[in-house]
Amino acid sequence: MKLSIDLVVDSSKEWLEAVMNDFDSFLKDHANCERKASTMAMSFVAKFPDRTEIIPELIETAIEELEHFQSVYQIMEERNLQLPPKMEQDIYVQQLIDCCRSGREERFLDRLLLGSIIECRGAERFRMVYEALPEGELKQFYRELWASEAKHGNIFVKMAMNYFDKEEIYNRLRELNEEEGRILNSLPIKAALH
Ligand SMILES: [Fe+2]
Ligand SMILES: [Fe+2]
Repeated sequence: MKLSIDLVVDSSKEWLEAVMNDFDSFLKDHANCERKASTMAMSFVAKFPDRTEIIPELIETAIEELEHFQSVYQIMEERNLQLPPKMEQDIYVQQLIDCCRSGREERFLDRLLLGSIIECRGAERFRMVYEALPEGELKQFYRELWASEAKHGNIFVKMAMNYFDKEEIYNRLRELNEEEGRILNSLPIKAALH
């Protein structure tokens, strides 16, 4: 069973160049993204406490994302970097959330599928960073993250399978993936995950 569908657009070389030219800025943004990913997983638990089938996996995912945050923050400390005092809004995530429908069930499905799409995009980009980095610990770190986020990309679709039929899931995933491609292409290029 295929649990995720391919992203519609590839990230650009220009994005990778921006990241590699200002890796410190990328790290600060990346750390915040991991922290937010952990919060996002736990917000499902808070909003849908009755969906007991998926709560253990959500907790597990939240812990893994928090561990990612811990690891990125450690790298920042080694480089004497601090988290930014004010968090910039993540336009990419905000625009994706704006695509979610409003009914309780529809929103639940859309938010799960967005979880999957955002994780798949993270995996794609960490892979690019991994491939661009010179041999060393940092390269290995991004290789591990790529694998971990790729796994998360499947997890949210798998969770949706508990509550929705396959056809509905894949149809909606296709629509949201189209939106994601459009949003990604419209973003300014900067040394950030999105
Ligand atoms: Fe992560
Ligand atoms: Fe993740």
